[in-house]
Amino acid sequence: MSATEELKERLASSPATWLVTGVAGFIGSHLADELLRLDQRVIGLDNLSTGTLENLAQVREGVGPRRWAGFTWIKGDIRDAATCRQAVQGVDYVLHQAALGSVPRSLEDPKLANDNNVNGCVTMLWAARESGVKRFVFASSCSVYGDEAALPQVEHRIGRCLSPYAVTKRVNELYAEVFGRCYGMETIALRYFNVFGPRQDPNGAYAAVIPKWIAAMLHNESVQIHGDGSTTRDFCYVANVVQANLLAAAAQNPEALGQQYNIAVGGETTLKALFEMLRQRLAPGRPYLDEFRPHYAEFRPGDILHSRADITKARRLLGYQPTHSAAQGLDEALEWYVKEFSSRPAPAGAIL
Ligand SMILES: NC(=O)c1ccc[n+]([C@@H]2O[C@H](COP(=O)([O-])OP(=O)(O)OC[C@H]3O[C@@H](n4cnc5c(N)ncnc54)[C@H](O)[C@@H]3O)[C@@H](O)[C@H]2O)c1
Repeated sequence: MSATEELKERLASSPATWLVTGVAGFIGSHLADELLRLDQRVIGLDNLSTGTLENLAQVREGVGPRRWAGFTWIKGDIRDAATCRQAVQGVDYVLHQAALGSVPRSLEDPKLANDNNVNGCVTMLWAARESGVKRFVFASSCSVYGDEAALPQVEHRIGRCLSPYAVTKRVNELYAEVFGRCYGMETIALRYFNVFGPRQDPNGAYAAVIPKWIAAMLHNESVQIHGDGSTTRDFCYVANVVQANLLAAAAQNPEALGQQYNIAVGGETTLKALFEMLRQRLAPGRPYLDEFRPHYAEFRPGDILHSRADITKARRLLGYQPTHSAAQGLDEALEWYVKEFSSRPAPAGAIL
């Protein structure tokens, strides 16, 4: 039996209470979805700055009314200590996702990124510590590798940060370590690589590349690749990230605690290859995609050139086993993308 199957059995026999921050966002909504399907009690906190109630409506529809009864919604901000204290009442596990994502956004407004991602995280950590939660698992990012050029990226070898966003995520990791050392709190940092899947927002200047390109292709809008297309990413389907969070919350091995883990597939896809993967999947029934080509633009400051994760540590200490390659994730999510994005207005100028 895999570590995930074992864990699911354990959770089914003794349900727990989970706080998911950033629950109305892309990844948070998938965490809530899976936990409710496992008959857990879920408290969801979000200030709706980038998340939407529509994401939660999709979760409600997917899990059905009986399981949805296990969900408690709090609209609030992680920077507010009283809100954090209220949200962690009676909570066993915190899965902290709330943050302002996007490297370019953080370059435009580093103070805002710091406020949400650092102050918010410390406020949440402190509330979790006061209420005595069993464990605090949180979203870090592969951006912490910065200018470390050696591949694959291994947890203990990080470079200099290339953006304020990366700084916020690295600072979160340092705070978590210190909360372990000073207060005996159990924390785990999950360094997500480029995550994709249903409910990821395709709109706006800070959208991630996969939903943005799919929406653009569906509307015959231009797709822009920053750089020459040889930039690589370790694209990680959201189901793998959900699995990692559950395993991190439940890990029994003391060696696993207070650590950072790469959460990805261990694969490498160039942007050119990604463009082709998407174009080929969407081309049937859309003849304009037969000759569809990307436009190339300047490389974006703050972005790292290549990323590919070494996932040995997560495999060894958490029992993590990614279930989806990038291609399998795209195949699984394609129907959702087409259904959701076909009816939406096209994004203005798709970029990476
Ligand atoms: N998507 C990725 O590829 C990726 C990669 C690395 C790390 N991450 C991290 O994973 C987490 C989730 O990312 P996502 O892609 O789901 O983004 P998202 O924007 O869809 O979700 C983040 C959620 O947090 C909420 N939020 C932001 N600031 C808040 C605040 N001050 N108080 C309460 N709620 C707040 C937003 O409204 C949103 O619902 C983030 O911490 C992000 O930095 C994501």
